[in-house]
Amino acid sequence: MNILLTGGLGFIGSHTAVVLAEQGHELVLLDNLCNSEMTVLDKLNTITGKNLAFYKGDVRDTALIKEILKTHQIEAVIHFAGLKSVAESGSDPMKYYDNNVAGSIALFEAMKAVDVKKLIFSSSATVYGVPQYLPYDEVHPTCPINTYGRTKLQVEEILQDLANANPDWSIACLRYFNPVGAHESGLIGEMPKGVPNNLMPYVCQVASGSLSHLNVFGDDYDTKDGTGERDYIHVMDLAEGHAAAIAFVSRNAGIEMINLGTGMPYSVYDLINAFEKSASRAIERVVQGRRSGDLPIYYAKADKARVLLGWQASRGLQLMCDSSWKFQALLKGLC
Ligand code: NAD
Ligand code: UFG
Repeated sequence: MNILLTGGLGFIGSHTAVVLAEQGHELVLLDNLCNSEMTVLDKLNTITGKNLAFYKGDVRDTALIKEILKTHQIEAVIHFAGLKSVAESGSDPMKYYDNNVAGSIALFEAMKAVDVKKLIFSSSATVYGVPQYLPYDEVHPTCPINTYGRTKLQVEEILQDLANANPDWSIACLRYFNPVGAHESGLIGEMPKGVPNNLMPYVCQVASGSLSHLNVFGDDYDTKDGTGERDYIHVMDLAEGHAAAIAFVSRNAGIEMINLGTGMPYSVYDLINAFEKSASRAIERVVQGRRSGDLPIYYAKADKARVLLGWQASRGLQLMCDSSWKFQALLKGLC
């Protein structure tokens, strides 16, 4: 199938490109490089042995998107392009509504104009908000507690209306839990610009010596060891989930919201302990107060993905840490 990946040079888009290319799909990648580097394209070409089509451009450029959709006879779009910092979404909300919501509307308008009706949207577990019960299933009420989460929920709602009005569209909104890890080659992985906000990239930079220690944001939660617990999912499992979703939208019309998680929560200390084994070095840590806006624990009920997509995550926490460390060590010339 001919597939456009918006945000295709980003963390999740690049790993998904590898899996889809290996399955024989024809890919076109679009990215404005606001949070990625051109070097990722070279790495993708090395891993896949292909010369992937790439456009430097913005999803808000409707004319460009229409042109790409027509030129490459695109049959499905995977919409990864978006901004994802919870903190920045609070301090600069209009940037997030413009990029994530207006950007999505522009993309869907371009698709509608040229009759491309299959879409996978990168949503987030953040749409659920404070758990009323766990694990979160897809019918759990949605009430995001930050601007970033609201942008994701608004796009889901737009897509629900679009699907209601156009029953021949096929849409999957994939609600990712906490993607971590890297491709087994160590060539691509998560490359945040500046100081990382998220746990795994921060731990990687402590292990490589770029940062002195990890701040543990709270050890007094009502969780098994007092630290926050999350459903970490290996990015290659997530990438395979997208391939399964492409097959699903090819067969079915309508819209589905689907969790992509493992269903297994791990604490901050679980992750640090596993990472220390991967890197054979100690991770300095300092316990700090709780980070504002953090939830103590959440994780996915992963049954819907198994039933509808025939997909479930298979890679464990140790592999997530091993692959993250391999990528970081190669990046820093440590191996
Ligand atoms: P990422 O920042 O690594 O990748 C996003 C890519 O989109 C980047 O390469 C960026 O340059 C590009 N981009 C952003 N705005 C664009 C625009 N207007 N036009 C063209 N390109 C644009 O992030 P990621 O971790 O790969 O996340 C991909 C998607 O998944 C995002 O929509 C994100 O919100 C969502 N998501 C991520 C996580 C996570 O923890 N990584 C969790 C849930 C959902
Ligand atoms: N944590 C630390 N120290 C750090 C960073 C994080 O102790 O330096 C802790 C947090 O308090 C939390 C856990 O590690 O308990 C995970 O935090 P992350 O920042 O890695 O991930 P979050 O669950 O807060 O959020 C992430 C993304 C969101 C996305 C969500 C999906 O940042 O964009 O996962 O579930 F929506």
